[in-house]
Amino acid sequence: MIIVRSSKGGELCVDGYRVRIIEKLRLPSLNERLKAIREAFWNTFLLKNEHVFLDMLTDSGVNAMSDKQLAAMITAQDSYAGSKTFYELVKAVEDVLGYKYVLPTHQGRAAEHLLAKAFIKEDDVIPMNYHFTTTKVHFELAGGQVLELYINEALNTESTHPFKGNMDPEKLREVIRKYGKEKIPFVRMEATTNLIGGQPFSMENLRTIKEICDEHEIPLVLDGSMIDWNAYLIKQRERGYRNKSIAEIVKEMCSLADIFYASARKAMCVRGGFIATNNKKFFEKLEELLPVYEGFFTYGGMSIKELGAMAVGIREMVDESLVGSTVEQIRCFVEKLKKEKIPVVTPPGGLGVHLDAMKFLPHVPQNQYPAGALAAALYIVSGIRAMERGTMSMERTPDGREVFSDLELVRIAFPRRTYLRSHIDYAVDRIAWLYEHRELIKGLEWVYEPPVLRFFLGKLKDVDN
Ligand code: F0G
Repeated sequence: MIIVRSSKGGELCVDGYRVRIIEKLRLPSLNERLKAIREAFWNTFLLKNEHVFLDMLTDSGVNAMSDKQLAAMITAQDSYAGSKTFYELVKAVEDVLGYKYVLPTHQGRAAEHLLAKAFIKEDDVIPMNYHFTTTKVHFELAGGQVLELYINEALNTESTHPFKGNMDPEKLREVIRKYGKEKIPFVRMEATTNLIGGQPFSMENLRTIKEICDEHEIPLVLDGSMIDWNAYLIKQRERGYRNKSIAEIVKEMCSLADIFYASARKAMCVRGGFIATNNKKFFEKLEELLPVYEGFFTYGGMSIKELGAMAVGIREMVDESLVGSTVEQIRCFVEKLKKEKIPVVTPPGGLGVHLDAMKFLPHVPQNQYPAGALAAALYIVSGIRAMERGTMSMERTPDGREVFSDLELVRIAFPRRTYLRSHIDYAVDRIAWLYEHRELIKGLEWVYEPPVLRFFLGKLKDVDN
């Protein structure tokens, strides 16, 4: 964002880039949308893109890349071993994040897989501010149990708390007292907490958590997949950070983590991921696993072309002109929805706009998946593809019981540098219509339910039309 003083007082945030390649969009007819959602078994993951108008399923792997990233893909030096492009990546990680050891992985969950394999034993517990779907599955497959130590305000969808992604330090102390440090391989903090609505943590909180970890010699792992938005929100909301650069804020965040990992499909705008650390022992433990599960250490499961673009993406992630546009779009979208009195998660954060489906559809019980139903209904009225982030995104207990999610959210994600203001106006208009006619929306039930990560491939049908 280029931030300038407005002639009318206050600040103006202006996007620090322009668009030079476009993709034409098509708005399918209502009948086509109805047919498509039935064919997709009411699961927005199973829709074909040709039937989608605005694809706001995720920001993952669909951000607009920069001219410099595309150029880096052409000049990347393809080779199995020893590519100079890998060493450019190492240099970018060191310059921007401050870590000297880097392990590329094919995406974020591959990093989680390696961390789980290297550090988690049967009956371990892993405290975190909140889980992410793939994180939880990998850590549980390794025999661990995920403990979510969020602050009480985190689940209040109508909050003004600036840092709902904070971890509760007292809960962490309690967990360490209860289980003992031997059972805690690491503590995990997720930047721009995904499943509670893109909410950031504060630097002060991260520092406090790090101090507790240090007291007990427990490593701190930072999931930095969306560190860009968390850093921007720290700059906007935390005292003492207004005049710091995004680069300084990101560096400071990373200096507090013993291990950093990320899905590069998000903040870094490429398809890949990596783990980074300054701890040689951790690095060596992880390095052994890399060729078994990912690839040789100089590509680690990524294409070298994308690895080159990742090196550029890491540097651009802290470029003041390029960061922040999405956060500003989300703020504008949330403000417009609030004006229409539509239940939406506040305060606005990163990642996307999150509708509160339990408040939107109080007549749909949680065992009929209100967020899944609302995501399908949103598609029908608008052609917008959003994502269920509620009970459908949870796993059943080993004995088959349903685990109700703390929140039932419909996430309308914002891929970076992709959608425009008119798209926001359109979405608000359609959502307002849907809210007015919310009685029309009924629940869903499974016709096919996969055993893990069921939200991806699960098939449903409509209860009561
Ligand atoms: N951690 C976080 C915080 C994520 O948001 C994601 C992915 C991952 C790890 C896994 O990374 O997809 O590269 O394997 N989030 C995507 C989303 C899928 O749509 O929010 P991955």
